[in-house]
Amino acid sequence: MDRLQKVIAHAGIASRRKAEELILEGKVKVNGTVVKELGVKVGPSDKIEVNEVPLEREEPVYFLLYKPRGVISSVKDDKGRKVVTDYFTEIKQRIYPVGRLDYDTSGVLLLTNDGEFANLLMHPSSEVEKVYVAKIKGIPQKEQLKKLARGIQLEDGKTAPAKVKLLSFDKKNQTAIVELTIHEGRNRQVRRMFEAIGHPVMKLKRERYGTLTLHGLNAGEAKELTPHEVKQLRVLAMKKTSK
Ligand code: URA
Repeated sequence: MDRLQKVIAHAGIASRRKAEELILEGKVKVNGTVVKELGVKVGPSDKIEVNEVPLEREEPVYFLLYKPRGVISSVKDDKGRKVVTDYFTEIKQRIYPVGRLDYDTSGVLLLTNDGEFANLLMHPSSEVEKVYVAKIKGIPQKEQLKKLARGIQLEDGKTAPAKVKLLSFDKKNQTAIVELTIHEGRNRQVRRMFEAIGHPVMKLKRERYGTLTLHGLNAGEAKELTPHEVKQLRVLAMKKTSK
């Protein structure tokens, strides 16, 4: 048995706070009766309606996919290109990606049907670390890397401080490999950050998401997260958001 507001939040309809408001406003019915108290617990067989719409409930599931390049971070694509859920045809739950990686970016991508979990991780104040390894054009100077670390002015505002490590460089081909650790998740952020210092990204991979790495997986392979891994991520996201 779970609290009603938690079950509504899990279904991805609203945050837990918003779910509480919906209950208090009398917009939620359990087995045909309006419930206006917050303490009520419900089981799997209880029929819940929010604004007269029955709640679809599924067992929450959590996966890590090693997303290959050339795949869309979506559940469907109008142009018929490969999407990340194509790797989960055996899974009956309706999972979707937590945030997105660009079509040409590979690496760690989470998928779940737990809306509350996804919202928590994607919340702008969530400071879950994401570690990217980029192959870039040219060899950056120390000062340029420092700029990335301090934060860089992009069209949608300055980026938060980041960790930057030059892993290697190739003088002959004029390329470098740089590790960048950020906690924000703006659209094409890593590519835009490198562009801003004059070293466009040639190849990009997300190596780590919070505590999760690609260890043991090949591109295109997925694994289900253990309850412990899910808990660790939740704790990480909550700790930071309450800062
Ligand atoms: N930053 C990017 O530029 N692309 C991604 O796919 C992820 C982060």
